[in-house]
Formats: sequence, structure tokens, C-alpha cells
Amino acid sequence: MTAFTLAHLSDPHIPPLPTPQLRELLGKRVLGYLNWIRNRHTIHRRDVLDALVADMLAQQPDHIAVTGDLVNLALPAEFAPARAWLERLGPPDRVSLVPGNHDAYVAATRHLAADVWGDYMGGDNAGGADGFPYLRRRGPLALIGVSTAVPTAPFMATGTLGPAQIAALDRMLAGLEGETLFRVLLIHHPLRSTHSHKRLTDSTELQSVLKRHGVELVLHGHDHVHSTIWVEGPRGKIPVVGVPSASSVAHGHKPAAAYNLFSITREGEGWKCQQRVRGFGSGPAIGDLQHIELRDDQRTSS
Ligand SMILES: [Fe+2]
Repeated sequence: MTAFTLAHLSDPHIPPLPTPQLRELLGKRVLGYLNWIRNRHTIHRRDVLDALVADMLAQQPDHIAVTGDLVNLALPAEFAPARAWLERLGPPDRVSLVPGNHDAYVAATRHLAADVWGDYMGGDNAGGADGFPYLRRRGPLALIGVSTAVPTAPFMATGTLGPAQIAALDRMLAGLEGETLFRVLLIHHPLRSTHSHKRLTDSTELQSVLKRHGVELVLHGHDHVHSTIWVEGPRGKIPVVGVPSASSVAHGHKPAAAYNLFSITREGEGWKCQQRVRGFGSGPAIGDLQHIELRDDQRTSS
């Protein structure tokens, strides 16, 4: 059987940041803008992002998952360039997006992600762009997208699903039971965080849904690091995989830009999922960084 390939990238924080108008720099955006000028504009680079995307597209994945933080301050002028960037990745039926906290940075523009990128976040049957969780069936995959993107106070980057979305996810996963599907949950925030100001506030509630119904794989962004943890499922553990920012140069403890390619095949009564990590290593070229086999509750790495 031919493998289905799913590419995963996240947190492009698409540069350059348009110059904000003075009236747009109220509240939380002032701090974010100062941070961009001081620091982040040297970290998130367009040439890095473009090279990474070109390399990913050359792999010709069957589908692409993007787990949020397309923009930086959620200025109105950031959304159309982000749409153009999404279109370079592929048409909406080939690219599945969930929003991040920077895409809902302030309440005044939190609707723009759905307005401008809605068809990249729509389910197969849902008419509305704001309908999370969404469900997309692609090959053997069920891609389930949730939104943790809520405006927060200055210095906070938490995410929240909320009881209604968690209940809807519970019903959606219950409805898929009995089908032979490789279920992939797309979420911006990681399920565990050592920093309380960046955490998913209702991760415990989400993890109890995952323990009840299971999924085969969880993909997230937000931390800007390579990460794999395992959480409890109904039959063994579930891999939860994070990826660095797609536009980042290495800095501090954060690695340079990378993306993941998952190769998924049905094997007997289960699934075989191989993860290939591609990105910038120590030099200027993009290459394979790691091959990992994600199988039930085991992980082997080479
Ligand atoms: Fe984030």
C-alpha cells in the first residue's frame, strides 16, 4: 500500500511585520511591537521561511498541516500576506490550518483569521469557518482541527479550548469510532508546558477526552522546539509532536527552522507512522535531521 504523507510546519510568524499605525499600538500590541523591533525581527526571517517551504513542497506531501501563529501582532495588514503565503503552500483542500495565540493577539482583530483564512480551517461538511473542531477526511486520515486561540492579557500566551469545544470534540471522536482512520489532532498549544503563562489552560480536560477515545497522533506548535511526548490513550500511548518555528534561525535554546514529514501506512490491525524531520542543521543547507518510528507506545530513533 502506498504511504500517505503529511507535512507539518508551524509558527511561521510571517515576516516582514508591516509598520503599524500609531492607533494600532494600543494595549498589548505596544509590548509585542517593541519585542519585534528589539529581538524577533532578527529571529524570524523570510529567507529562512521561503527556503523551508520550497524544500517541503519539493517532497510533494499529500497534505500539509499548519498549527498556527501565521502572524505576529494580528495587525489587519498582516492577514492578506498570510493568505498569500497559505496559497503558496497549496489550495485549501490540501492545507489544514488551526490558529495560534498570535492570530488572535487582540480582541479587535480576532475575527480576521476566520474571515481571511476560513477555507483553510473549514471542515468537509461545515459551512462556517468558525466551526471548531473541524473534521477533514483525506486518504486514510481524519484531520481534526481545534482552536486554542483566544486574546490574552499582556505577557500572557495561554490557550483555551473551552467546554463547548471539548464537548464537541468528545462527540466527534465518539462518532468516528468503528471506522478505520488514522486520526490526527491539530492544535496550536502543546499539551504540557513548564511555563504557566504559555500553557493550554484546559489540557487536563482535553487529555481525558483523548484517554477515552484516542487519536493516533497530535501535532502542535507554539514552543518553537522539537518535541515528542506521549499521553494516555484507551489502548497504549499517543504521540504528541511539536516542531520549531518555520522561519526561525537558531537562538538561545531554540533550534533553527524545521518541519516534519509523516509517512503513514496501514499495517495489519494497526498503523505504521514514520516521522522524518527536515530542517536547518549546523550549516546553511536543509537536510534530514532525524528519522523516528512512532509506533503505539514505543519510539525508536536513528
Ligand atoms: Fe504561539
